[in-house]
Amino acid sequence: MARMAGSRRPEQRLVIEGGVRLKGTVRVSGAKNAILPMLAATVLTSGECVFTGVPRLRDVAVMETILRRLGAAVRWETGPDGTGVLRVSARNLSSHRVSEDLMGEMRSSIFLMGPLLGRLGRARVSTPGGCAIGPRPIDQHLRGLAALGATIRQQGAHIEAEAASLEGTEIHLDIPSVGATENLIMAAVLARGTTVIRNAAREPEIVDLQNFLNRLGARVRGAGRDTIRIDGVRRLGGAEHAIIPDRIEAGTFMVAAAITGGEVILENVIPEHLEAVIAKLREAGVGITEDREAMVLRVRWSSRPRATDFKTLPYPGFPTDMQPQVMALAAVADGTSVITESVFEQRFGHVPELIRMGARIKTEGRIAVVEGVERLTGAALDAPDLRAGAALVLAGLAARGRTVLRGVNHLERGYERFEERLRSLGARVYRLAWPPSVGSVAGGRPSEGGQAEETSRAAWVAG
Ligand code: UD1
Repeated sequence: MARMAGSRRPEQRLVIEGGVRLKGTVRVSGAKNAILPMLAATVLTSGECVFTGVPRLRDVAVMETILRRLGAAVRWETGPDGTGVLRVSARNLSSHRVSEDLMGEMRSSIFLMGPLLGRLGRARVSTPGGCAIGPRPIDQHLRGLAALGATIRQQGAHIEAEAASLEGTEIHLDIPSVGATENLIMAAVLARGTTVIRNAAREPEIVDLQNFLNRLGARVRGAGRDTIRIDGVRRLGGAEHAIIPDRIEAGTFMVAAAITGGEVILENVIPEHLEAVIAKLREAGVGITEDREAMVLRVRWSSRPRATDFKTLPYPGFPTDMQPQVMALAAVADGTSVITESVFEQRFGHVPELIRMGARIKTEGRIAVVEGVERLTGAALDAPDLRAGAALVLAGLAARGRTVLRGVNHLERGYERFEERLRSLGARVYRLAWPPSVGSVAGGRPSEGGQAEETSRAAWVAG
């Protein structure tokens, strides 16, 4: 992520006092990676779209801003269970341009191209560029849109796409890109005739997108398999849709339980979506019981995890978005783990930080060899990106002593009220505005000495 909205706000840090076993129940939020493409898809219809179980995340807020600037009406409500409800009406679209500042905020804005082309016949976005996890090309998106009949011009940082009408076609993706699969499904929904996408990504969020689009009146089949077929329709209506639970957030809380030797019950989980993660954690010795009907997982662990090797792959393989968190677990496991990152080129930003905590990790290219140590030690750390940041929080929870983490804004992109929910499980995690002033610990535990004491102690560590 090139720029973050948070950089304009006073800097925030997380202070984590390690060594507490997490215990309790946590409800998993709606999936970030499901709601983002669906919000983009609202541009396809003049009908009202109502989403329930929407996580209040920064990436969702960025997408909301993009939709408003395109002319859509967006309204937040609170559902009976306290989760977010988002109503979007793109009846009147006044623009086909996604501004550069918002593209810079969130790379996923690229998948507005498909819906804007489908509805308005033109779209203008800017190149998303690379981010903390390496170069992120969009060639598969552009090639697919061109195959559907769009003329694409790239001028400097801008990409302009136009199509008098999109025509159904056969598209074979070179790699099963999640974003390209979603973008092309959305572009094809209002195209003439049938589109077939082969070597499509199979992530559960794509199935959720298909279900939502079909509720609007689209005809999409095959999501979850590697061939997706879309029969174009003339127009779409409105619909209500409940977002699937966030499997990465669930996985992160599972590791939080395991790494602290705790016992956590996760509600609102679809265990099938987590099969690769569950299998790996079980291999490490972590006790996991599933109640698929009740959508509940119980994670329980009280001794040192065993080392396990794993390789990230497109779904249903082990998710790259869980690699940093499970590496934090491997850092304290008994034995040596070999971890291969095969999805992204540079996704080891958490490694130097874990090493600062005493981890023994060597990397070469996309391979990390992690020799587990008995205990990590708290340190002053930098979160380089969202999931690496989550991994450092987990490492901090397990470490001896205090960890102070910078770059908290990354966490807000993908975890709803993260530290508050960790605190509800007993974790000692506090937020600190930086530079600290008396009373600046946000949501901190009222300690004997009050917030001022908490602040100065944290400042002492960070200093
Ligand atoms: C999505 C997820 C992200 C997750 C990733 C992989 C969302 C909003 N984000 O990102 O959290 O880490 O899937 O599971 O859903 N690639 C190309 N050309 C392209 C597109 C992608 O070479 O046109 C490459 C990428 O550089 C990367 C790989 O394909 O190496 C996978 O990327 P992709 O599946 O597209 O990830 P995103 O959709 O960006």
